[in-house]
Amino acid sequence: MSLHTYRAEGEGLPLVLLHGFPLDHRMWDEVAAQVPAGRAVHAVDLPGTPGNAADLPEPALEASADLVADALRGAGVERAVVAGLSMGGYVALALLERHPGLVAALALVDTKSTADAPEARAKRLRIADEVERAGSVDPVRDMPAALLGESTRSSQPEVTDQVAAWIDEQEPAGIAWSQRAMAARPDRSAVLRAFDGPVVVVVGDEDTVTPVEAAEHLVATAPRALLVVVPRAGHLSSVERPAEVAAALADLGQAADSA
Ligand code: MLT
Repeated sequence: MSLHTYRAEGEGLPLVLLHGFPLDHRMWDEVAAQVPAGRAVHAVDLPGTPGNAADLPEPALEASADLVADALRGAGVERAVVAGLSMGGYVALALLERHPGLVAALALVDTKSTADAPEARAKRLRIADEVERAGSVDPVRDMPAALLGESTRSSQPEVTDQVAAWIDEQEPAGIAWSQRAMAARPDRSAVLRAFDGPVVVVVGDEDTVTPVEAAEHLVATAPRALLVVVPRAGHLSSVERPAEVAAALADLGQAADSA
């Protein structure tokens, strides 16, 4: 698993960015560029991403969380502000459960703490099998339409093209691994409920994958959570409206630094 460091030094707690599916750290590029100077920023390429799709362990987000913890400690990060978008949020909650000392504050972006319903789990397992059988990303090639909000699709065609290009570059074995790992994840609402650090919950108002109601559930669950609804963004708010997401992360970082 690889760690991409946008900025190595900073006074405050480092910011760690965990990406969604079926993408990699590049979905955070614009946000990382807009996080105010003075904070180290590291983005992880989770297991299954290009270059990290060989010798994978049994599919489990717990394995992802343990590998993230190893990579962070290897980079000298002992405590951080952890931001995860969608699948990255599931990994962030697994990290909080298994390595609580690493997590000073949490940004849960376009994500949820609950497990999949049986139909959603079955669909993931079916897609994993299809991708393996096809030996290509064809079964997930149409995902930009579901991931991006209507406003982005109609007014920023270059963003749709960029997300499609990123998906094209993913490894079929990695996509299958991530789907199976997500299918196996438990409900981690209790982990979030027990967290007493600052939390920001960010959601695009056009997110149809983990909609505003899922974000409201996170806010109701976490004892110290704020809700930021990003206008005219879908499920990939960090790509669609990076300035708004960077601002929410900057505020969270300040709250964590002064805690
Ligand atoms: C993601 O963006 O990471 C995915 O939509 C997560 C999921 O499939 O639950």
